[in-house]
Amino acid sequence: MKSIAIAPSMLCADFRRLGEEVEQLAAAGADWLHFDIMDGWFVDNLSFGPLLIEALHQETELLCEAHLMVGNPAQHILAFAEAGADAIVIHRETVDGPAALLAQIRGLGRQAGLAFNPATPLEGLEVVIEYADLILIMTVEVGAAGQDFMPATLPRIEQVRQMIDQQGLDTLIAVDGGINETTARQVVAAGADVLVCGSYLFGHPDGYAAALAALRSAVNG
Ligand code: DX5
Ligand code: ZN
Repeated sequence: MKSIAIAPSMLCADFRRLGEEVEQLAAAGADWLHFDIMDGWFVDNLSFGPLLIEALHQETELLCEAHLMVGNPAQHILAFAEAGADAIVIHRETVDGPAALLAQIRGLGRQAGLAFNPATPLEGLEVVIEYADLILIMTVEVGAAGQDFMPATLPRIEQVRQMIDQQGLDTLIAVDGGINETTARQVVAAGADVLVCGSYLFGHPDGYAAALAALRSAVNG
């Protein structure tokens, strides 16, 4: 049985009672908390910033991951590290040479992640992958929750898995967007380790524990 981590996307949580949401997710067995940071420029939407992570990080043992959908990640890395983000993910589209920023994140004692939009070529990743602890493959267009999974992203996950195995690395592959029981099985078969999940999990009629159990049994079934 492959061990996968499930990371609820806090964008889909009930903002009126975020502290309780975090407690309930932890009790239900979530592994990480995924925070979608949107700047209204790299993506159209605005979401929240480091202060929110700082507040919720103090409430939980769960690993907090900041997914930076911002045009200038270099400007914000320190703030997110200081806020207590355990993992900081920058987008490939926002940096010319990601190695230096990934090294900076690691230097701050945080896990370094590199994210790719569905249409961004993976070309050159083989050269910088050793600087990353995590590669995040977007499985929907970046910028909003509740979109349909794009099946054409599956070969990209396989490609990254192959790269990691060929280089003998232990880099994790995370996927983000449109994850449900069906697509979870597909992405894990393709090589994903971490499933970011928003609408399916927060909208599950039987609650978070049932949603997490359904996802785990789908990928192990
Ligand atoms: C999209 C975000 C995702 C999103 C996931 O830009 O990065 O994390 O909130 O939500 P679902 O699971 O609904 O696609
Ligand atoms: Zn995300």
